[in-house]
Amino acid sequence: MRILILGSGGREHALAWKCAQDHQVSEVMVAPGNAGTAREPRCRNVALDILDQEAVVAFARRHADLTLVGPEAPLVHGVIDALRAAGLAAFGPTAACARLEGSKSFAKDFMQKHGIPTAAYASFTQRDEALAYLDSHPAPIVIKADGLAAGKGVIVAMSDSEARAAVEDILGHQVFGAAGARVVIEDFLQGEEASFICMVDGEHVLAMASSQDHKRVGEGDLGANTGGMGAYSPAPVVTPAVHERIMDRIINPTVSAMRAAGTPYTGFLYAGVMIDAQGDPYVIEFNCRFGDPETQPVMMRLESSLPELLQLAIDGRLDQAQALWSEQAALGIVLAAPGYPGPISEGGLIEGLDLADPAGCKTFLAGVKDEHGRLLIGGGRVLCVTALGHDVRAARAAALARMSQLHAAGSHFRRDIGARALAREAAGSGPTD
Ligand code: AMP
Ligand code: GLY
Repeated sequence: MRILILGSGGREHALAWKCAQDHQVSEVMVAPGNAGTAREPRCRNVALDILDQEAVVAFARRHADLTLVGPEAPLVHGVIDALRAAGLAAFGPTAACARLEGSKSFAKDFMQKHGIPTAAYASFTQRDEALAYLDSHPAPIVIKADGLAAGKGVIVAMSDSEARAAVEDILGHQVFGAAGARVVIEDFLQGEEASFICMVDGEHVLAMASSQDHKRVGEGDLGANTGGMGAYSPAPVVTPAVHERIMDRIINPTVSAMRAAGTPYTGFLYAGVMIDAQGDPYVIEFNCRFGDPETQPVMMRLESSLPELLQLAIDGRLDQAQALWSEQAALGIVLAAPGYPGPISEGGLIEGLDLADPAGCKTFLAGVKDEHGRLLIGGGRVLCVTALGHDVRAARAAALARMSQLHAAGSHFRRDIGARALAREAAGSGPTD
């Protein structure tokens, strides 16, 4: 089997690495890929513009038995529709389903209509109306650009002036362009976040192991929001009871409603959930893809064949699938470029990548460019060192040990990934899936 993966991040490196381990897979092609996928055994990069659907379809028709899509943009633009129209096997949501991520107002209206728990909200296209709403809804409050804004469209406003400034920026000064033609303003939710990601075949659901991302740039969850500074799996906040509630109240109703609407959901479905003190989950956001960096630790723990699961999903037989997970915890720490999540400086040399990863540890590359064999910083999130361990503490120690061998001037990472799980371990409640 030949697999084509679209994308170029750490997520795609982890997906390619996992697919390449299956001996039925002869080749994994990653478009455009990165320096990590270029070096991965049985993987190769292909130069393709992943937003050029004709080019993707033409390439997949000649070279791939199955296409897997990493990032949201090609999904929202309909790459799965195009591949399917050409009779090709592809795993991901159609454009109609990807609206769950591509339009926050669509997602919120959908959740409201189907009784899926989420924060109360209103949406606006007019600046004055949005500002008037803020008069009666004081901070903390959350302002979200409706469309895709490269992970920057959410402002968690802790003061009224911040909330008003966000509305002015998005609706007044159009800082997100068309993606900010509409804003959603929603209540601030309190609790602990988790990433709940499933495979869906239109009807059946196979839950992946739970995970938890770390969005803030600084230790102690302080500082600016990022694409994710690290993640671990499993997330002990997702106890068996919470897992069941997420399935019953969020995932199953979403899959049923999409099916009833004539747009059955296929692909990875990612619910970012806030779990309150009573263990009740609320959707913060839906994503129509796997998470980055959640993929890296989750793929480290997956013992089943990913290509087999993808094939079952494409065939609508996920009810016959089973995903086996390592009993170990996995934890990934992101090394970020100087300046990230603001404007970064590129080009710095990354030293230490020539050393082999120890057993149970894998360095997935993301924003790394290969200049005649020299590996240089080429993006905000540079790489993610991911390690298994008998618990979160051991996994973190192993990831930190490998990280200590890597050097890139001005780069930074968090040493406290997994802190919430460790606090729970200390309090005596163990992890579960
Ligand atoms: P996003 O860019 O959609 O991933 O959102 C970024 C982060 O903003 C989320 O991971 C949450 O930490 C936070 N956030 C989004 N919506 C809410 C909300 N309604 N209440 C509290 N925090 C939120
Ligand atoms: N880690 C968050 C995301 O992939 O959206």
